[in-house]
Formats: sequence, C-alpha cells, structure tokens
Amino acid sequence: MKTQILTLLKEADTYISGQDICTHFGVSRTAVWKAINQLKKEGYVIEAVPNKGYYLKTSPDIISYSEMKSVLNTKWIGEELYFYEEIDSTNTKAKQLAETGATSGTLVVSNMQTAGKGRRGRQWESPSETGIFMTLILKLDMNPSKASMLTLVMALAVVKACNEVTKSTCYIKWPNDIVLNKKKICGILTEMSAEMDYINHIVIGIGINANVDSFPEELKDKATSLKIENGKEVKRAMLINRIMVHFEHEYEIFMHNESMKAQIDEYNEFLINKDKEVTIIEPSNQYQGIALGIDEIGKLLVKKEDGKIEAVYAGEVSVRGIYGYI
Ligand code: BTN
Repeated sequence: MKTQILTLLKEADTYISGQDICTHFGVSRTAVWKAINQLKKEGYVIEAVPNKGYYLKTSPDIISYSEMKSVLNTKWIGEELYFYEEIDSTNTKAKQLAETGATSGTLVVSNMQTAGKGRRGRQWESPSETGIFMTLILKLDMNPSKASMLTLVMALAVVKACNEVTKSTCYIKWPNDIVLNKKKICGILTEMSAEMDYINHIVIGIGINANVDSFPEELKDKATSLKIENGKEVKRAMLINRIMVHFEHEYEIFMHNESMKAQIDEYNEFLINKDKEVTIIEPSNQYQGIALGIDEIGKLLVKKEDGKIEAVYAGEVSVRGIYGYI
C-alpha cells in the first residue's frame, strides 16, 4: 500500500484527498493514514491539510523498495525488483537469483554492501546511505564471446545518466570506470555464467560514489564522488532510474547489431583516454601507445610506438595514463 500511495502522491504533484486515495485503492482511511505515517517516518515531507488532503512536498535521498518502484519508469528493467537495506554483494545475490529463475531485467539494489566486489578480486568500498550498489540480471541469446561488450554498453548508459542528472562532464575510462575531474566515481563489474556457446545469465554490477563525503587516505588521489565534485547531493533513486532508462535504449541498439558498431562514435566521445598516451598493463606484458578509441567489438585500439595498432581485449588488462590513473 505504501508503494502505491507514494507513487500516487508523486504523480499527482498536488493535494489528493484521503477519501480519493481510499476509493482509488479500495482501502480504509486507517490504512491510508498508517501508510502516510510510515512514509513520513522514512523522511518524506507530506503536508496534510483539512479539506484538501495530502501533498508530497519533498522526497529525501533514500533508496527503498517503495522509492525505487515509484521512481522507475523503465519498460522492462526493474519490473522484478529486489531491495536490501544491507547485503554482502548485489552481484552475489543477483547470481543466486538468476540461478533460481529470476527473469531478465531483474534489478537488485542495496543501501549498503558488507562484501562489495571490485574487478580482479578487489573489494569495493560500500558505505551505507551514500552510494549506489546495484546489479542487473540479463538472460539473452548471444554468443558468450560478445558478453564483455555489455560492460561498455552499461558504461555508456551510466555516463549519459550522470551527465544529464548532475549537469557535469563525466567520461568513460575503458572498459569499466566512469571518471569525473580525472577521478573515479563509478566501477562496473560484469560476471557471466555460460556454456561454450550459450549464456545462462549475465549480471552487471554498478557501484557509484554518489553522495560519499570523503574517502580513505589511500583512495583520495583516484576516487571521488558526484557530491564532492558537484557540491550537491544527487537523488540516488532518480539517478538509478535514468541509468536504466538509458541502458534499455543502448541495449536495444547493441542487441540489434550484436556489436558496438552503431555506438562507436558516441562511446569514443566519452572516452577519457582518446588520443592520449596510455600504458597497457597485461598480466605478462606492458607497453605504451596512443589510445585511438574502441572498435566495433569493444576492443581498445592502441597505436604503439612502432606504428602498429593493437586491439586490446578488456579481460585482465589495465589501462593507465602515463602519469597515473588517467
Ligand atoms: C571495479 O571498478 O572494480 C568494479 C566495481 C563494481 C562494484 C559494484 S557495487 C554493486 C555490485 N556488487 C558488487 O559486489 N560489485 C558491484
């Protein structure tokens, strides 16, 4: 009931009488009153004026099941939504859910992770109430060799949504970081369960430093948050919605081509390393070159000192600017 009333109040954007709410949902006055009180306790400022009704004045920056459901205006993502106040890792949970029948588009969101995972076995700092921690489950018919491109598709969606919502200029650091003012604000971790030629499921985990106020000493030089850089809090639920709306669009284009061919130019416009000198660090090799942009299968094209162009596969590779992270 709480979720439906919240959605109604948001859509109305004016006073709605208690009686209208009762009639709309076929519930008692007491049920409406209880739901309104719960929403107030969560931080929503709801004015109750005799003879006029209820009006949602302001919504706090909270992520909850009700808030997410009332904000999401996607076509298929998040129809199945799981929200956890606290969880070990949304990727781990998403994998369990995918194995036990969750449909494509299921979204797992949490307010805090106790064992957030980063790339290459690293841990992902997941402070409560300030970050975005979410994982999208995809079940699709495609050759597993193409799956890594979905990280790039998600990066495109994240960068567009962040720029639109915060009016800032974020970039993509190939393949899975989003940066703002040369520091990381978001990481993406894509994991897959597959047979040789068949994908069981893919989970795309996104961690965004949204309203984080400070970072531990060892991260300060390369990590920042949207709030620190923009001096303004971002409404996390709204940002999640915009990311998923953009992802649905980008995903449709990607699945039509099963490649990045229609998205190369746009992706490269957001590429922070484009035309810059980079160091490519492979498990057993390291070299420098100029990053030219991605190709249609999502590899990073790097022009080496001898003039040869190398197509770098995301896998275990790490890209660094020659003077540091960017
Ligand atoms: C990286 O840059 O190393 C990737 C970080 C990915 C972090 C996100 S937070 C939500 C999801 N759950 C996890 O455990 N990891 C991803």
